[in-house]
This record gives sequence, structure tokens and C-alpha cells, in this order.
Amino acid sequence: TVSTEELLLSRIRDVADHPIPGVTFKDITPLLADPEAFAALTGALAELCVRYGATKIVGLEARGFILAAPVAVTAKLGFVPVRKAGKLPGATLSQAYELEYGTAEIEVHAEDLATGDRVMVIDDVLATGGTAEASLELIRRAGAEVAGVAVLMELGFLGGRARLEPALRGAPLDALITL
Ligand code: PRP
Ligand code: MG
Repeated sequence: TVSTEELLLSRIRDVADHPIPGVTFKDITPLLADPEAFAALTGALAELCVRYGATKIVGLEARGFILAAPVAVTAKLGFVPVRKAGKLPGATLSQAYELEYGTAEIEVHAEDLATGDRVMVIDDVLATGGTAEASLELIRRAGAEVAGVAVLMELGFLGGRARLEPALRGAPLDALITL
């Protein structure tokens, strides 16, 4: 029998020189197009949410949304979008973070997270860890607790786990695949 990890890995496509020369892009669209693999992915992430006692799921725009929404439905938990700045209509909390060149900003509706919530962050990839780190800031500033961070893929060579470590404050970081 094929392990979940092997199944998922077999459905991720390497695209050479994307988005810039020298970078190999990990394309998850073949995985999303395979219902068995997508269900295995959703199930594995939902199991982590239940294991860590999450009460809410945060998905990180854009690719994190694709995974976090079915995970929330499977785990029977509410879904909260963390969006790129300027997209959410209501009162927001904003958090800036460093990119390789320049900065980016993400936001959450302040009323979507509150004291007593245990929040699981779901994204497709942990690279440098900047996006996930900023999302943990938002969750804590909203008064909520971090249940954990779970991603499909961790790009180990970029050191995201070490960067995220202080912001996790002991909460678990799980990657279904480490590259
Ligand atoms: C990608 C990826 C992760 C993030 C990881 O998102 O989906 O969210 O980068 O990188 P980091 O660990 O270095 O922060 P990106 O914002 O590039 O694009 P997306 O809107 O397609 O998700
Ligand atoms: Mg993303």
C-alpha cells in the first residue's frame, strides 16, 4: 500500500525555472485535481486540527484557502480567512512582514477571532516562514490562542521552522512532506 506521504508527493509537480530562473516551483494542481489525493490531504490536515484541539481554522490567502476550507468542513470547525491587505471589508487587524525584497501585509477581520479560540493555521507551503509568522501575530493580537500550524510542504532548506520557532511558543508545526 502507498503511504499518504508517498501519494501526496507523487501528485506534486516540479516546474523548472518558475517564477524565476533557478527556482523549481512545487505545483500542487495535479494533487488538487486527483480526488483521492485531495481527500487524503484534507483528512490528514483535519486529523491534526482535531488532535491539537483547534476550535477554528485560519487559511492563508490564496493557496492556503484551497486546503483550509475543506479541512474546516471535515473537522467541523469554522473557517477564518487571513487575506492580503485591502481585501476584507470590515474592521481588521493588519500585520506587515518581510519578503525577500520589500514587505507584504496580511489582515484578518478582528471580530472573527477572540479570547478562548484555539486556532489552527493551514497553508500549502512553509518557505521562509514569514507568512505563517505574521499570521500567528494576528491570532495573538486578536486575543486567541495558537493550536498549531500545519502545511502540506515544508521547504526545509529555507529555514522556516527555525524562524517560526519563537512565534510558535511551543505550539506544534506539522508538515506532511518535508523537502
Ligand atoms: C506562498 C505560499 C505560502 C508562502 C510561503 O504564498 O503559498 O503562503 O508563500 O512563503 P514564506 O514561508 O516564505 O512566507 P504567496 O503569497 O507567494 O502566494 P499565494 O497567494 O499564491 O498563496
Ligand atoms: Mg500563500
